[in-house]
Amino acid sequence: MKPISKIAENIAPSSTLALDAQAKALAETGKPVLSFCAGEPDFPTPRAVKDAAIRAIEENKTKYTPSAGILTLREAICTRLFEDTGVSYKPNQIVVASGAKHSIFIALQAIVNPGDEVALPAPYWVTYAEAVRQAGGTPVFVQTREEDNFLISAKALEAAITAKTKALILNNPSNPTGMMYSEPQLREIADIAQKHDLYVLSDEIYYRLTYGKVPFVSFAALSQDAYDRTITINGVSKSYAMTGWRIGYSASSPKLAAIQSNYLSHSTSAPSTVSQWAAAAALSLPEVQAESEQMREEFLKRRDFAVARVNTINGLSCKTPDGAFYIMINITRQLGRTLGGRKIATADDFCAALLDTALVAAVPGTAFGIDGYVRFSYAAAMDDIEQGLSRIEKFLS
Ligand SMILES: Cc1ncc(COP(=O)(O)O)c(C=O)c1O
Repeated sequence: MKPISKIAENIAPSSTLALDAQAKALAETGKPVLSFCAGEPDFPTPRAVKDAAIRAIEENKTKYTPSAGILTLREAICTRLFEDTGVSYKPNQIVVASGAKHSIFIALQAIVNPGDEVALPAPYWVTYAEAVRQAGGTPVFVQTREEDNFLISAKALEAAITAKTKALILNNPSNPTGMMYSEPQLREIADIAQKHDLYVLSDEIYYRLTYGKVPFVSFAALSQDAYDRTITINGVSKSYAMTGWRIGYSASSPKLAAIQSNYLSHSTSAPSTVSQWAAAAALSLPEVQAESEQMREEFLKRRDFAVARVNTINGLSCKTPDGAFYIMINITRQLGRTLGGRKIATADDFCAALLDTALVAAVPGTAFGIDGYVRFSYAAAMDDIEQGLSRIEKFLS
């Protein structure tokens, strides 16, 4: 047989989804596994959203839609973005896709040519590097340090830029670190983007899940220049507990939006019609905003508990993240030890031993381009977080 596509062959499977699946498979054998791998809220989708979807089905809103999404949803997105971030878009700048992951894929297809480089702060969300490669581009990692809250500086970014650099991917608040850029930090990055004429893919999917210390600023809000060069990525998965509905979106210039819409029209045609109506309800109903806020408050309680508890465990530490629902646990003091009968040389070894011995699943930092750390998702019930961290403490002792 002739060789298959080189691009496809080189795509790595999603390690976070794979680990979660491994933990679920173990749980199915009857083992009391606690998984802190997945990036999804443990809350149910709000009742009013489910009702809107049921109504859409009853009203036979079950046909094809425009490829960029129904107008009602694109209007709801514009209103929500304006109310929450102050950035003004028109519906012809919004393209709805089957999840923010899909929006990122489409956006990169729209701007990357084979051979282009895309700057990516590390640690990074696993999908970015693969989505850049799927577009024929090369991810160029800009390494960050815990001392700098895992945030890139303008200087480090500029050092990574070459004549081939086409774009920068920013994730604010960040998965996997939960850290956020302040407005002055964003302004310095925007200056570099302008100087080197870079597109900025600003993934802001966790923007409603922030905990106060660093106010959230949308990249496109910084200046007219930033607005023009930014493709903002967002979606309903995280803030409205709607991961399975698969609705994400991008907001960009009308020209870029049209290109993304064309691309969609020949792939999925458009996201599921019923999910689009559900997302329109999620973004526009006041009671759903209130419910989303209650989820944020619950995440905040869990974050505070988890951060304090991790820092009481001998040999572990973590910083306090400003948003999302992840903490990066520093395990560097465990490297070189033998735990659960296994020599721990990397975060992968640590996570494998932790799952085998303590039945606790968490994602090694290596999946995000950094060793010596483990990503712990606190999008889990408080009892599970308490029990999971106690098991980790016991595992280490
Ligand atoms: C940073 C980031 N962007 C995008 C996504 C994808 O979200 P969606 O479920 O809308 O595809 C995730 C999900 O884990 C994420 O963490």
